[in-house]
Amino acid sequence: MLEEKISEINSGFNQDIVTIKDQKQLEELRIKYFSRNGLVSQLFNELKNASKEEKPVLGKSLNTLRNDLTARFDSLKVKLEISKEKEEDKIDLSLPGTRRIIGSRHLITQTLDEIKTIFKGLGFSVVGGPELESDYNNFGALNFPPNHPARDMQDTFFITEDFLLRTHTSPVQIRVMEKYKPPIRVIMPGLCYRNEAISSRSYCVFHQVEGLYVDTDVTFAELKGTLVSFAQQFYGEGLKYRFRPSFFPFTEPSAEMDITCFLCHGKGCRVCKHSGWLEILGCGMVDPNVFDNVNIDHEKYTGYAFGMGIERTALLKYGIDDIRIFFENDFRFLRQF
Ligand code: PHE
Repeated sequence: MLEEKISEINSGFNQDIVTIKDQKQLEELRIKYFSRNGLVSQLFNELKNASKEEKPVLGKSLNTLRNDLTARFDSLKVKLEISKEKEEDKIDLSLPGTRRIIGSRHLITQTLDEIKTIFKGLGFSVVGGPELESDYNNFGALNFPPNHPARDMQDTFFITEDFLLRTHTSPVQIRVMEKYKPPIRVIMPGLCYRNEAISSRSYCVFHQVEGLYVDTDVTFAELKGTLVSFAQQFYGEGLKYRFRPSFFPFTEPSAEMDITCFLCHGKGCRVCKHSGWLEILGCGMVDPNVFDNVNIDHEKYTGYAFGMGIERTALLKYGIDDIRIFFENDFRFLRQF
């Protein structure tokens, strides 16, 4: 009886196994033969009813059957897995490709790089400084009187009484002049912070590039020449410019440089507040008091300094009308550059 069943199950399994095409069918096969109520287990249950004499013989053939079927099941399982992997590895060359987005430099980084390249060409080195500054470097050493309005809490993010987030890159001038002796010819790019009302024209964080040239006999004419050369390389040859007298505690005399409004070409519009001019930077001759603060002999040396806002510069160059867009990281904006 049991003997017959063994050979029946064996031939049944032979028929079944050749029809298995995938994992799902394989699982069905496993359940049919090897699960707790599967055909093979049922046979083992029936072994109980066999006579004492028969039991060892039947038991042996049952074990052989189980081992045989299991081995064939396992090898089929492996085969199916391999062919599945092969299937997954196949590349369908007719499918449309996926477009990969390649990152690019932020417009501010691009502008900074461009400015650095121009000034390097004019003989300047690039130096950095910390964004967390002492009140002394940011104001005191730069000849700001103790009660100067720029020191006001409304403009400056103070961290402690003596430390703040730098409001301009000019404190790097102090660091450079304390560390190096003239001749000094450096630009100092970096982030600055001001506690200002946020609008399309001002933001609490922005970049500046500071410039400093100290040597014997540095003149205002050289300052003008350098800045005009920069502006022509950066904004274009045909550009008109002018220097207006201005005031900064750390330069004397001081000036602001304007270029013709790129939008209206000098006719007057909303962007240039109908003046036809756009201010691009502040500059001047290093104040002797500043030289005294860093122990540079102001009888022997003269120097000039300048500072420009990068967002503003990029804004003007590319005709962008809202400064906040530089910090929003909106792909639709970033992708255009
Ligand atoms: N630090 C000044 C500002 O933030 C700019 C400046 C730099 C002016 C150097 C003169 C010389 O407005």
